[in-house]
Amino acid sequence: MLRITGYSDKFSARPGEEISFYVNSEFDEQYQADIVRLIHGDTNPDGPGYKEELIHSNISDMHAGKNQQIYGGSYIFVPNNELFNVNSFTLCAYIYPTTPYVDVEGVEVGEQAILSKWDAENETGYGLFINSDGELCLRIGHGKGKVEEFSTGKPLYRKVWYKIAASFDVNTGKVFVFQTPYVTHTNSGHGMSMLHPQEDTLGSYHGTSLMGGPAVNDCPFLMASSTLKSKSGRYLTGGHFNYLDDPHEIPIHTHKYNGKIERPKIANKALELHEIELLLSCQGIENIPNELKEVVIGAWNFNANITPNAASTKIIDDSLCKMNGCGVNLPVRGVPGFNWSSDYMSFLHGPQEYGAIHFHDESVDDARWDVSFKFKVPESLKSGVYAARLRVNRLTDSENEDYIPFFIRPAKDAKKAKLCLLMATNSYMAYANDNLSVNSAVAQLLTGRVPLIQPNDLLLNEYKGYGLGTYTTYRDGWGVNISSRLRPILNMRPKYIHILSPSLWQLNADLHFVDWLYEMGYDVDIHTDEDLQNEGVELLKQYQVVMTGHHPEYITEQGWHAIHDYQMQGGRFMYNAANGFYWISTLHPDNGNLLEVRKGDNGTRAWTINPGEYCNAFDGKHGGLWRVRGRDMCKILGVSFTSFGLTYSSYYKRSPDSELKECSWMFEGIGYDEPIGDFGLIGDGAAGLELDRYDLEKGTPHRAFALANSEGHNDMFVTVTEDSTFNARGNILNGTGESNPNTRADIVYYKTPNDGAVISFSSMSWLGSLSHNNYENNVSKLMKNVIDGFMKDGPLP
Ligand SMILES: [Fe+2]
Repeated sequence: MLRITGYSDKFSARPGEEISFYVNSEFDEQYQADIVRLIHGDTNPDGPGYKEELIHSNISDMHAGKNQQIYGGSYIFVPNNELFNVNSFTLCAYIYPTTPYVDVEGVEVGEQAILSKWDAENETGYGLFINSDGELCLRIGHGKGKVEEFSTGKPLYRKVWYKIAASFDVNTGKVFVFQTPYVTHTNSGHGMSMLHPQEDTLGSYHGTSLMGGPAVNDCPFLMASSTLKSKSGRYLTGGHFNYLDDPHEIPIHTHKYNGKIERPKIANKALELHEIELLLSCQGIENIPNELKEVVIGAWNFNANITPNAASTKIIDDSLCKMNGCGVNLPVRGVPGFNWSSDYMSFLHGPQEYGAIHFHDESVDDARWDVSFKFKVPESLKSGVYAARLRVNRLTDSENEDYIPFFIRPAKDAKKAKLCLLMATNSYMAYANDNLSVNSAVAQLLTGRVPLIQPNDLLLNEYKGYGLGTYTTYRDGWGVNISSRLRPILNMRPKYIHILSPSLWQLNADLHFVDWLYEMGYDVDIHTDEDLQNEGVELLKQYQVVMTGHHPEYITEQGWHAIHDYQMQGGRFMYNAANGFYWISTLHPDNGNLLEVRKGDNGTRAWTINPGEYCNAFDGKHGGLWRVRGRDMCKILGVSFTSFGLTYSSYYKRSPDSELKECSWMFEGIGYDEPIGDFGLIGDGAAGLELDRYDLEKGTPHRAFALANSEGHNDMFVTVTEDSTFNARGNILNGTGESNPNTRADIVYYKTPNDGAVISFSSMSWLGSLSHNNYENNVSKLMKNVIDGFMKDGPLP
């Protein structure tokens, strides 16, 4: 298992800027840290082998290591306030539990807190919980071992909305708890018939307690969790908490709840049932009489600031006490509430029906570790891919070594290279810690083999708290729609072999290209998706040629437009990938380290969105495939995702267009009949993993040239689901491998206005072939011819 992990505060930096690194040494061991330039990450002995270069820097030294944990699980934090230390009280809300008893794999989840001012260590305070039998209960804590629990005695059902409340009157000792299902045609995961007879899940408790009010504690008021320790040494500040005037220390939380909450409220008095009904009838306190308003000390309105997006982590308290809260670990906002009718499919159109927040016990927005060291980027450091290399006790084996990759951009006023390589950092984030090797049976079927488990995978398996990526689902069955890079991303590492490939995937595979560019002597500048998001076409316009790595699948609207505008303004664009620019992706408006993706109900996808949840919280716009928002990848690449087979790769054959005078210059030195790329480090071929095709209907320009097509793909290659409407025997477009004419990668080239051009190689294993035979091969030759031609000023042939 990996003994050292880490992350940095940013992906990319320019000379003169500073990068902070956060390191966890699992067993508090010391470690050597160095800065290295990453050149080739593939350890395959059939290729050039692993290459990195040590950079002399001020951080090269032994560092004292310490264990740093991640506290995952989303919740709402309301700072401690004397007003919450009540004797008599009422708590109420709507809830929609998604793991009331067990998770989707049948594993018991244990106690979960809905609303709490609860000190779990000292057992003081009070809270509304789901107990380990899946029943709603009120807890009043008088100190260690002196806890009273009052349960409804009825189990809560998964994916059903409930109206819940509890009250306690210290003068009379009267206790009241109830859970009432609230199911409409549309709001729940089941119809009313499933709840027949309702008594199975409708429950209440009436009783008396003579032990007095809850013991006072210094815990914050939490929703979807309770407090294990009220101080953690970790703070909410800046970024997606930029509305806070000063840093807020958060607790270490426990009793993490999975599911939705809506209209949570607390009063400092035991209310009558009709008063509770009044409280729950409004988002805040807008409909209730003044004397009732006086006793309400918290009425959090989850609708309050969800326009024009639902990205804010600020949780507004509408009560007279104004005790606003913060959403920690990014609970999902803008999701359908208890009153969702389906008349509106977006929280912008019907915000009154989107007043719920969904909490997941595995989500992570930021590890919030202590800074271990800082690196000031020297003025002389050239643009490239770098990493902080960490080695426990200077040991070099894979269990004791980790890398934290980052990207150095050229200085703002530096003379720019002619070539720009865009690093697909959004995609690295989307795939973060997918841990498919251990958790995905489908991944093993797609790849046709048993995965090679690495120390990184074992660590993720042991400590599930490292947060997930958009290729997995939470334990309550919901797709992971938000990924953060403010935590170790253990599959974004040099030397890492990814389950979805016979060898490499994502960052490590992109290093195949970085290495080749250096071997060929090209001067290249590196930028990231986030830089593109921030600077748009102005960034790209500085370059004669802009190039992708092997799988830029996730792009933002700003990125898509910048690439389109670059192509229109005479830029020359090389897409060395497949399945690129595919999913609608959004960065958090206040924090570019956070990515959101909603996987819609169409597309080749790891999960399907739930009803009414189509719109991104981060920008309020529809999520899913870019195609559904009129931006098919084909419109800026000339090719469209067609097939994938994550095993053996194949080769291309030239087609007649390649002999035309506009195109033949690219094939100088390559015979018409020779197979192109029947070799390589990814599946032994240049056409593999995922493939794109020429398709006029999807948006390939009418004057595009089809230069080459791949052939000979085996039956592990399957069609993409978005091309399939009916699964029918004999439908060749559903067929696998060679039996389906769409199982092919097409190399497509076309010119754009102002002497611009686009070339798409349409395969994810293309770049893995560049180094074959000591870089002397026809893939390398074709790439070099294209780059050299694209770098020349003036019109293309
Ligand atoms: Fe992908």
